[in-house]
Amino acid sequence: MAKQRAKLVVGNWKMHGRLADNRVLLQAVSHGANDLPDDVRVGVCVPCPYLPQAQSLLEGGCVAWGVQDVSAHTQGAYTGEVAAEMAAEFGASFAIVGHSERRAYHRESGETVAVKAQRALEAGLTPIVCVGETLDERESGKTEQIVGAQLDAVLAKLSVEDSARIVVAYEPVWAIGTGKSATAQQAQDVHAFLRARLATKGDDVESVPLLYGGSVKPENAEELFSQPDIDGGLIGGASLKDKDFLAICSAAVAATAAR
Ligand code: PGA
Repeated sequence: MAKQRAKLVVGNWKMHGRLADNRVLLQAVSHGANDLPDDVRVGVCVPCPYLPQAQSLLEGGCVAWGVQDVSAHTQGAYTGEVAAEMAAEFGASFAIVGHSERRAYHRESGETVAVKAQRALEAGLTPIVCVGETLDERESGKTEQIVGAQLDAVLAKLSVEDSARIVVAYEPVWAIGTGKSATAQQAQDVHAFLRARLATKGDDVESVPLLYGGSVKPENAEELFSQPDIDGGLIGGASLKDKDFLAICSAAVAATAAR
């Protein structure tokens, strides 16, 4: 019997949002999340300029907030970058690191992602470390090799204690924003592989939350979240619609109850 872990559902807004729309969305999510049981945690990762808005609308409620990237540096002449400590000053709890869009468009290496995870931890943020293979890599049987190497790069950099404070998100690149989610079994298989890899670092590391991301929607969330090694989701497109996002959070509740 798999160990029962709390569920975590985090929205990744990517580069979407405007002040007026955000207000409506954040208020609706905050209000809806009040009805969720304690063993389902909810967060939203917003574009940096909207951190103060997220803080002022979410503070005191049960929805945490965070950013979608942090700099690998703590401070200095790095035009355009945002340090983890800056995000922490606005109450952020999470920092996504190593999202496939960052790896692909900004050529972030495994080493860079590892340093970013470390910077996030130093600032008191929980890094959500994304790993995932492309369609080509899956079709040539390299999924485990790719996601294993991406995870190893981070685990190699962090102490055992720090490794136990991360969240890992498996996001197959071919499923992101395509409407074509991995099947629950495909996702579970990779999650079980990642779980075993985490276990090599220690018992506390084995039980870090493992999220699935890639075209999660209200219709497929419960089946995905019911898998023994899927502890919740990282939600892109569907996190921009309050009803869909809250339905996905409710699916996490249902999946927990059904286990
Ligand atoms: P999606 O994105 O839910 O829109 O597929 C997920 C992500 O990229 O985090």
